[in-house]
Amino acid sequence: MLGIEYLEREHEEITQVINAVESKCIEIMKGKEINQEYFADVIEFIRVYADDTHHKKEEDILFRLMTENLGETAEKLIRSGMLTEHQMARYYVMELERNLAEYAENPNDVNKIQIIANAMSYVNLLRVHIEKENEVVYPFGANNLSKEVLSMFNEEMAEKIELEKGIIIGKEELIRKLI
Ligand SMILES: [Fe+2]
Ligand SMILES: [Fe+2]
Repeated sequence: MLGIEYLEREHEEITQVINAVESKCIEIMKGKEINQEYFADVIEFIRVYADDTHHKKEEDILFRLMTENLGETAEKLIRSGMLTEHQMARYYVMELERNLAEYAENPNDVNKIQIIANAMSYVNLLRVHIEKENEVVYPFGANNLSKEVLSMFNEEMAEKIELEKGIIIGKEELIRKLI
């Protein structure tokens, strides 16, 4: 199951980063100063890799094929579950970015706690989201899509992965910097 395995590997990378973000938030709670550069890198990882490549492949390929082929249950699971959570994730990152800018202008406790709150909201959301996809959504697709649709899925994934080669060049280095 080439395509699913690839998505699961991306989950492992996202998990490494969100675990590191949680540790960073704990350090801040214990008194360490906010490292603006670190959080700018986190936001870059989330936007470029977690969202533009990972979530995009789910939305445009796997979830599209599941809603087209697996009826109402899949449609509900994806539309009101997974896609809504992708939107919530984007919202938390937007808020985090705003909080960081506000803290740079005005480094007070209110702005600091908002950074921790939105960073941890993203961490918590993504943890549960990834678990649901690994345990429920991906197996549901893999076990119920027809052989033909699955091979279409794998083909589309392979094409997209090829197109992403230029984008993911800096990914490993960025992850190493963040964890
Ligand atoms: Fe997702
Ligand atoms: Fe995912």
